[in-house]
Amino acid sequence: MRKKIVAGNWKMNKTFQDAEELLAFIAESIEKKPSCEVVACPPSIYLELATDFALDSNLFVGAQNVSQFESGAYTGEISAAMLDSVDVDYCIVGHSERRKYFHESDEVLAQKVDKLLDHNIIPIFCCGEQLEDREKESYFDVVKMQLKNGVFHLNKNEFGNLVIAYEPIWAIGTGRTATPAQAQEMHNFIRNLITKEYGKETAGNTTILYGGSCNPGNARELFSQNDVDGGLIGGASLKGEEFIKIVNSF
Ligand code: PGA
Repeated sequence: MRKKIVAGNWKMNKTFQDAEELLAFIAESIEKKPSCEVVACPPSIYLELATDFALDSNLFVGAQNVSQFESGAYTGEISAAMLDSVDVDYCIVGHSERRKYFHESDEVLAQKVDKLLDHNIIPIFCCGEQLEDREKESYFDVVKMQLKNGVFHLNKNEFGNLVIAYEPIWAIGTGRTATPAQAQEMHNFIRNLITKEYGKETAGNTTILYGGSCNPGNARELFSQNDVDGGLIGGASLKGEEFIKIVNSF
């Protein structure tokens, strides 16, 4: 179902005490139900803490990564069943930092998506091009391949449980945001691809988030684009007040 979502990707930041403080601030700030779904994606060590806050508030919780394997001898990994057992709602898959630093291939990402869906966790599947792809004008092809290899193997029912995040790599953590027109152009392209694969109804029901230097100053204009259903927020999700301003941008 198409929803408005603002999700904070904390990446590898915050001590336990800082995490507790930020979660408490967010939960309290959204006590009066906000006009979008609010998701906190803290490091995995704080997921249970976050789902405790979620029990008594309007907060939803997402993980930042999951193993492609079900269980067993995979030292250091966390499975979808484990995330499910502490009531995690969402999980980011295929973030460009995981693709780059941890060499996650499209094939592995597709397996991660499958595992999450098996355990009723909503994947937030990230796609996005590098600066040189944009300059060479191959950015549509890059995103199309990422979607084809990562999620278009799903059947229509499964696909209905997926969120997509378009995150141009040149905009992540750089302060250089895509213009609202650039975001809308790509989001519309993605929705059209989904129409071709799964039909108009599924495409119309898919939530597509924008990520990349989204902040309180640009969120409102980005979120007002027809095909932009919210944001995946990195840096600005680490400061409670900034994050809540973005949440209130709808
Ligand atoms: P940023 O990160 O908001 O700091 O650019 C976004 C992301 O990586 O999800």
